Amino acid sequence: MKEIILNRRSIRKYSDYKISNTELYEMLDEALRAPSSGNLQPLRFFVIESKAAREKLRPILRMNVSQLETASQLILITGDKHKYQMAETIFSRAVAEGIMPDEVKHRQLDRFKNIHHDPTSQKYISSLFLDAGLFASHFMLVARMHGYDTCPIGGFNTELANETLGIDSNYLPILLISIGKKDEEGYQSIRLKASEITYHID
Ligand SMILES: Cc1cc2nc3c(=O)[nH]c(=O)nc-3n(C[C@H](O)[C@H](O)[C@H](O)COP(=O)(O)O)c2cc1C
Repeated sequence: MKEIILNRRSIRKYSDYKISNTELYEMLDEALRAPSSGNLQPLRFFVIESKAAREKLRPILRMNVSQLETASQLILITGDKHKYQMAETIFSRAVAEGIMPDEVKHRQLDRFKNIHHDPTSQKYISSLFLDAGLFASHFMLVARMHGYDTCPIGGFNTELANETLGIDSNYLPILLISIGKKDEEGYQSIRLKASEITYHID
């Protein structure tokens, strides 16, 4: 695990090895063990793999052409602005699997019903971004465990992404991740020391 974490680097050029959909979904499932706010799991993924899909993405990318052209797949992570609609499904499944008492499910669902949801509020959007960040971090490490490398890509026009890629406007585009077998070593990058940026509150 330590090797996986310490030696991860953003890789921007990949060999022509194709990751199967089965393995891609396996990695997504593994990374979905990441925590999410209220366990509402608001992320929805869009896989860009075919030539046609890559050409749709090209005009809204800011640089990042090497990842576009060589990655086995690029995954667009989006956040569902109506994440609460899945609450019933998620908690009912937990009850059916015997890991949540029925009364806890009802208590949780009542709690969500009483919250005012404004998907345009900064708080709501921040929570989608937080969940996406936690997922992305898991995914990049899971990919390495499978022998692949990744690059997180924020350099794309999020305002045009839904229309250009034909994605429902309820899904907020957050981050692209390219994935594949590396064809370069990537760059070393430095990190600030924890001792320089950590403060203790008295
Ligand atoms: C939110 C986010 C957006 C990023 N966007 C891009 C990008 O558009 N293009 C790119 O080549 N790298 C991008 N990166 C990768 C960073 O440049 C990289 O993580 C950083 O330089 C540290 O290098 P390392 O990942 O190799 O450790 C992004 C990283 C993050 C976390």
